[in-house]
Amino acid sequence: MSLWYQERDVKPPGDAPPHLTIFDTTLRDGEQSPGCSMHRQEKVALARQLERLGVDVIEAGFPIASPGEAEAVAAVAAEVRYAAVAGLCRTREDDVECAARALAGAVRPRLHVFLATSDLHLEHKLKITRAEALRQVAAAVGHARSLCADVEFSAEDASRSDVAFLTEVLQAAFEAGAGVLNVPDTVGYALPTEYGALFARLVAAIPGAVFSAHCHNDLGLAVANSLAAVAAGARQVEVTINGIGERAGNTALEELAMALYVRREAMPFVTGIRSEQIAPTSRALSAITGVWPQPNKAIVGRNAFAHEAGIHQHGVLAHPLTYEIMTPASVGVPESLLVLGKHCGRHAVAVRLRGLGIVLSPAELEAVTARVKELADRQKFVYDEDLLNLVASPAPVARLLRYHVVSGNHVLPTATVELDVLGERRSASALGKGPLDAVLKAADTALGRPGRELVELHTRSIGHGTEALAEVLLRVRDGDNESTGQAASTDTIEAALRAYLAAGAAAHAIPAATGPSVACVQEVLS
Ligand code: KIV
Ligand code: ZN
Repeated sequence: MSLWYQERDVKPPGDAPPHLTIFDTTLRDGEQSPGCSMHRQEKVALARQLERLGVDVIEAGFPIASPGEAEAVAAVAAEVRYAAVAGLCRTREDDVECAARALAGAVRPRLHVFLATSDLHLEHKLKITRAEALRQVAAAVGHARSLCADVEFSAEDASRSDVAFLTEVLQAAFEAGAGVLNVPDTVGYALPTEYGALFARLVAAIPGAVFSAHCHNDLGLAVANSLAAVAAGARQVEVTINGIGERAGNTALEELAMALYVRREAMPFVTGIRSEQIAPTSRALSAITGVWPQPNKAIVGRNAFAHEAGIHQHGVLAHPLTYEIMTPASVGVPESLLVLGKHCGRHAVAVRLRGLGIVLSPAELEAVTARVKELADRQKFVYDEDLLNLVASPAPVARLLRYHVVSGNHVLPTATVELDVLGERRSASALGKGPLDAVLKAADTALGRPGRELVELHTRSIGHGTEALAEVLLRVRDGDNESTGQAASTDTIEAALRAYLAAGAAAHAIPAATGPSVACVQEVLS
């Protein structure tokens, strides 16, 4: 196995590699993901970013679904300049016409007609015969073609359809004017060998058509199945950003594109994807939907370029290719993140400190690394604030021992806080306008630093549901000093209190001008 990414300018052998059309369905199938529905302006903003990313087709929505959806598809169609814009429709006449109207303003419109072909769907969902399905497909595709030069037909649940009947339907769609034939694995059931074999058979049976793969990730095989289809002759792949989509999602654009790039000696295809736009697109989608990829998600998860083990950190610092098969920059991530946890080593601590403008002697570095590990045993991750505290103070300034708060809609919020302040046990109580106010006032009294001002506070949930961790990031002003603090807990008040104490420690040690900024912390977190 060669390492082609080491030689970025080397071309694969033989003729120019074939172009693979990237059909992005984030705004349609992706939007069908729970919690990912998008308004018109959000779709338009994301479509702009998808163009920047370099996709060939943007499926903007399913116009018949609602008047708002039809308007959103029309708005995307009017905005997009280079990519084709597709609108989904069933085989009904009004459906096809509604999609055609929504796409009227597109530079390159594509009508995407679909009908299920598996007996399961025909009998139980559509309640029609195979003959009726065949008739509907030919009629709807013909009608679509009379309204639009670019027509795609999808045989829903193709991977569980009778292959002879599927071939007959696809042949009919091709003859009626569909240039692109999509063969979805609608329920994510296929195995790569099976899905590849299906494409090989269909490609041979219907020469001249462009075959498209559309995979769902119910068994975690969406990308593998898409690659198998490409190897067997598919020349379009349907994907979504961050892999969002119905149930377990669709083929993730970023994974497919980077698999093709990193392993281009094995799969020599070109796409129009500008890979440095992958992370910005992923973030743009998450900012719109509020749904972030899981931390270990390939390419775009926040741990995709994070190294925790000291041996890995040392390796990556010595030569990135030891533990990275692509550079973070190639997907638009500024740099690898060396996580300071209990497995980290002094190399990573030194690099992070250097980033904060601090250079320590070897002995000091050894001591700080030991304390980083100690701290990581207690709080899992060590952030820049913690590191600055460790360097600036011989011991943590203030540590939460316990707190108690009484709150409700008919009581005056009251809090008691007990701290370890430089080894001294201190406690204080306070009333507040709410539980957080009471707790922070009590902390100020215990610290002997009243008058501090909470300037900003952001919370975000790490994980799902009411049991998720709450991560709090805040900024505190203390006279001329400003500092940030960060902490996480399943108890939001406790997370805020710990973050407040961390910011207090930083404020004590660092003047505002050189203090770490919220942006810097967010960068570490994102
Ligand atoms: O998964 C599927 O079958 C689909 C079709 C409508 C293309 O999304
Ligand atoms: Zn789908």
